[in-house]
Amino acid sequence: MIDPKIVEEIKARNPIEDVMAQYAVLKRAGSNMVCNCPFHSEKTPSCTVFTARQSFYCFGCGAGGDVISLVRRAEGLEYVEALEYLGRRAGIEVITSDSDAPRFDKRRFYEMNKAAARYFRDILFTDPMGAPGREYAEKRGLDTETIKHFGIGFAPDSFSSLYPYLKDLGYTDEEMNAAFLVGKSTKTGRPFDMFRKRLMFPIIDVSGNVIAFGGRIVDDSDPRKYLNSSDTPVFRKRKNLYALRYAKNSCAEKMILCEGYMDVIALHAAGFENAVATLGTAITPDQARLMAKYTKKVVICYDNDTAGQTAAEKAIRLINETGTETSVLNIKGAKDPDEFIKKFGAPAFSKLIGESKSKFRFTLDSILSKYDLSETDGKVRALGAICKMLAGVYSSAERDIYTREIAEELGVKPESIEADTKKIMRRMERERKNNEREEALRQASGIGDRINPEFVSNIAGANTEEQIIALLLLKQENRDLAKKGADMISAEDFVTEFGKKLFTAIMELENNSSSEFNESELGAVLTVDEMARLEKMKMRRYDLTENGEKEFIDLCAALRAESRKKKTSESSLSADELAKYFSALNKK
Ligand code: GTP
Ligand code: MN
Repeated sequence: MIDPKIVEEIKARNPIEDVMAQYAVLKRAGSNMVCNCPFHSEKTPSCTVFTARQSFYCFGCGAGGDVISLVRRAEGLEYVEALEYLGRRAGIEVITSDSDAPRFDKRRFYEMNKAAARYFRDILFTDPMGAPGREYAEKRGLDTETIKHFGIGFAPDSFSSLYPYLKDLGYTDEEMNAAFLVGKSTKTGRPFDMFRKRLMFPIIDVSGNVIAFGGRIVDDSDPRKYLNSSDTPVFRKRKNLYALRYAKNSCAEKMILCEGYMDVIALHAAGFENAVATLGTAITPDQARLMAKYTKKVVICYDNDTAGQTAAEKAIRLINETGTETSVLNIKGAKDPDEFIKKFGAPAFSKLIGESKSKFRFTLDSILSKYDLSETDGKVRALGAICKMLAGVYSSAERDIYTREIAEELGVKPESIEADTKKIMRRMERERKNNEREEALRQASGIGDRINPEFVSNIAGANTEEQIIALLLLKQENRDLAKKGADMISAEDFVTEFGKKLFTAIMELENNSSSEFNESELGAVLTVDEMARLEKMKMRRYDLTENGEKEFIDLCAALRAESRKKKTSESSLSADELAKYFSALNKK
């Protein structure tokens, strides 16, 4: 448990609008702020930051809660980790009591990883077991300087070689296992080295800590070409970039994004020290934001195959969403940057960067390449696809420039392209409105509710539950009423498991807190999605001033009646009930 006073102080010293500004551009809207939601992709803001009550809610995706929930979601942290993060941000030390589960000491992980990296390096350089690694490094054209610069090493072909080494240094089996360095045999329970017979690439963060490894096979003995560390207490693969430690010093203007470790290494060796790569996954929004922190423009340099080109489309989208410019490199005559540099040299690669395509050109070319433009039919269909692409361009000035460029290129009138695009835009707008309406109905009816799957089987009861929960959170008077016991309300009266869970958690906090009730502490037992749902429940009540005692008592009585009904009939909702409910909603 964390001292409630500390939780309060951490919240007070981290205004939600300041923290949200790390993830989104905020605009003032009356007494609140709005922004494009950092948790889903959108072009018009549907995320509101309520400064007075220090919470946020996205009407598009349902993310919401206090500043702690925000950080949990944005940084992918647990409740306590989020408090530590915010504590660091505000210079408050968060002390967790000893009764907590043993938490790993990150410094020991950094040291253990560094020891492993040294071990792999020494094997590669001097050990007889390193011969296959040396052979392979030579074959790939890795010179000694490059190998040292990137700390490359070799994991020998042995099940127990790193393990005894680290054991001697005093690291525990549990630590080695959590660091993804050592596995445990399911049959014998014996520990074994995770990386074997692989060229090892240490992954190093911007502060110089070794946080993980990528290991490449040196022959065809394993169908998995690469083995990468999974997430560990010191590593989130979706939040880091390979070689950012070096790239960060020379990427202010431009950063090169590649797919593979070997591409980055070849580029750095050829003098392009602004190259980075993702870590064995497709690019994530977190990585896009990380790049945006360091550079104005990302040159996407993916493999010259269909998979690479599809991945490039995703990268363009995610990086543009952070407000960072993109362009795409067209690698000709080689399958990837590594091969290109080896074949044609660094000056040719510089030239390639100079010719990199704008996002628009890249998308246009990939559309045009799919149709036979010498046939009328092909041209018509290509234009159809192009208008669809144009309809997605937000700025009308930009759309206008593109329209003219395409018109000239394909020999058609810009006016006709414009008219077709407008038609598509109107259709899209209609569809969007319909979807929104359906989504609202779906949400109100609880169909497809992931957080409370039982909602739909008792809509009336579940709605009453949510109102009670909201009132409990909003007013001490209501919590006092609830404390009167089973005559007023008890967990048994709740008709869904989720309702029961929330009620129990709230009352436990109420009964156990020595100081004032602080809803944020529920984060210790509820997930971020559940916390967001609480925010939504409260939102519906905020604007109602009439929260009298009688209303709460009536709601409790209504819920008891619902739960009696449920217990006697155990029937799920009738078609009749649902129809009535929908028609009532439609009238609103
Ligand atoms: P080379 O084949 O040696 O040129 O490697 P590369 O670094 O250029 O990798 P490639 O372009 O083939 O793949 C891109 C990245 O995807 C690699 O750097 C790895 O991070 C990842 N990757 C490739 N193959 C695998 C695999 O089998 N498993 C996992 N987990 N990741 C892989
Ligand atoms: Mn490659």
